[in-house]
Amino acid sequence: MKLLTSILSAKQFDRDSLLELYQLASSLEETLKTKRKLKLLDGYILASLFFEASTRTRLSFETAMHRLGGQVITAVGVQFSSLSKGESLFDTLKMIESYADVCVIRHPSQGASELAAKNISVPVINGGDGAGEHPTQALLDFYTIEKKLQLSKNKLKISFIGDNKFGRTIHSLVVLLQHFDVHLHFVNPSELSLPKKYKKILTTANVQFSESENLQTVKDSDVLYMTRIQEERFIDRSLFDRVKDSFKINLDFVEKCKKGVIVMHPLPRLSEVHSELDNSKQAVYFEQAKNGVYVRMAILLKLLKITF
Ligand code: CP
Repeated sequence: MKLLTSILSAKQFDRDSLLELYQLASSLEETLKTKRKLKLLDGYILASLFFEASTRTRLSFETAMHRLGGQVITAVGVQFSSLSKGESLFDTLKMIESYADVCVIRHPSQGASELAAKNISVPVINGGDGAGEHPTQALLDFYTIEKKLQLSKNKLKISFIGDNKFGRTIHSLVVLLQHFDVHLHFVNPSELSLPKKYKKILTTANVQFSESENLQTVKDSDVLYMTRIQEERFIDRSLFDRVKDSFKINLDFVEKCKKGVIVMHPLPRLSEVHSELDNSKQAVYFEQAKNGVYVRMAILLKLLKITF
């Protein structure tokens, strides 16, 4: 794998580096079956900076750091940092290189983590920047698909259902999937289609993709990747009200889909995936969130150049 200094975009990964990260995360998962904690990052500190709401990304990064024997400092919410007193994001970030060895940042502005990486000397991880990217979510999504369906060996049809415009996890994941033999199918209200720049990436890489507003077109898929309609990104409230309940799946729908289909969701979910699916073998969204710990452990080791 090329030397990673920060993780800002899924564009930094190619097929080989994805498979290498998969192997490392898989070994860490195996090791954690018998050990609760490793001492690989003893003395290292992760700054966990979340200026937008999060449950999984923040807690799984913090868990990953603790499991590796490192320590965590946290700033959560603008209102509890000196940003609320008018301090600039630049000044806030500048402090981090004095306090921590690596940082993860979630911020509502696209490009916030890039700004950080340009101006501070410690590795920066993009934990989600507005409607931009969420590369580490895409890495754990890749890990989950590879583990469940051996993406690197099989041609898969992967359907993205919901908000393909604002869903940053989708943006990052389609960038990763260009390196595999896939048919990507996007099902969304016409106003929420995948941004042109991601379609261009797929076209350039000769990836087969299609679009529809009809949920029935996903029934031959290997993966149903569901997403929430991202209310917080809408400027036009009436549009949100019109599209918010566009696509919902339940157990009956999934039972009529291709045998062996898996249902993924980056979470949080609202009503797009019925809770009656939760205990079915098709539902992998909670396992997907759990995989975040192993993948983020692997990312921390890579960025801090620690071998395992
Ligand atoms: N998937 C994801 O990013 O979840 P959180 O918003 O809870 O971190």
